[in-house]
Amino acid sequence: MSDVIREQIAYYRARAGEYDEWFYRVGRYDRGEAHNARWFDEVEAVMTALRGVGPVGGALELAAGTGNFTQVLATMADVVVAVDASTEVMMINRQKLKQAHVSYVQADLFTWEPEATYDLVFMSFWLSHVPPDKLDGFLSKVRRAMKAGGQVFMVDSLRDQSQTSSAVNHAAYDPESIYHTRKLNDGQYYRIVKVFYDARLVETLARHGIQARYETSGDYFWWAQGTTASF
Ligand SMILES: C[S@@+](CC[C@H](N)C(=O)[O-])C[C@H]1O[C@@H](n2cnc3c(N)ncnc32)[C@H](O)[C@@H]1O
Repeated sequence: MSDVIREQIAYYRARAGEYDEWFYRVGRYDRGEAHNARWFDEVEAVMTALRGVGPVGGALELAAGTGNFTQVLATMADVVVAVDASTEVMMINRQKLKQAHVSYVQADLFTWEPEATYDLVFMSFWLSHVPPDKLDGFLSKVRRAMKAGGQVFMVDSLRDQSQTSSAVNHAAYDPESIYHTRKLNDGQYYRIVKVFYDARLVETLARHGIQARYETSGDYFWWAQGTTASF
């Protein structure tokens, strides 16, 4: 495992208890009323699109984190399998949801192999942590985890020109670099991968047998929604 892959796992394990501050725009992530309102409107646009792919039988969530999307998937799917490298975030997820039809698997997605196929494969704010040289390997796993006729939904960060998505005290990033520095509330620094995949992802997905469309919510998020292509 490369150092940065190890470091981003360590980062999310250490950040587990403060992770939701980002999603709910509190503490260092509170950018003021106007930005926060914009953020939540855009979150709602993503959630509406996601709900539109249901109902489904089996859903697989990759890098499920603290469950902000798992709780939506749990309303759409008969069963949800949530995978993440961090037991710390999965504990929060489990406590937040308390849903018997959601099960949890601890695994590093770079070595994990799908053992079943699903009606829906979902991931939020994960693809941006997949380095470009690992993208094809990862997407081929995603395809192998999809049932014939199954769906995929991925949502992630747009390259936010105003950089208001991250914490107030995060350093401005170098747009040419895939490596970003992230700081925890206690001041500890970690290096992570952050890649702003754009609409060209549709062509990449097509090479993996997934027909998808790419949309954005405005400033903050993109999502790609697709199905297995028929050849
Ligand atoms: C940005 S968070 C997204 C969490 C959740 N999907 C959400 O939308 O809030 C990234 C997640 O990836 C997980 N993660 C990091 N590296 C991983 C790896 N190599 N394998 C599996 N999960 C990993 C972290 O533990 C964290 O929960």
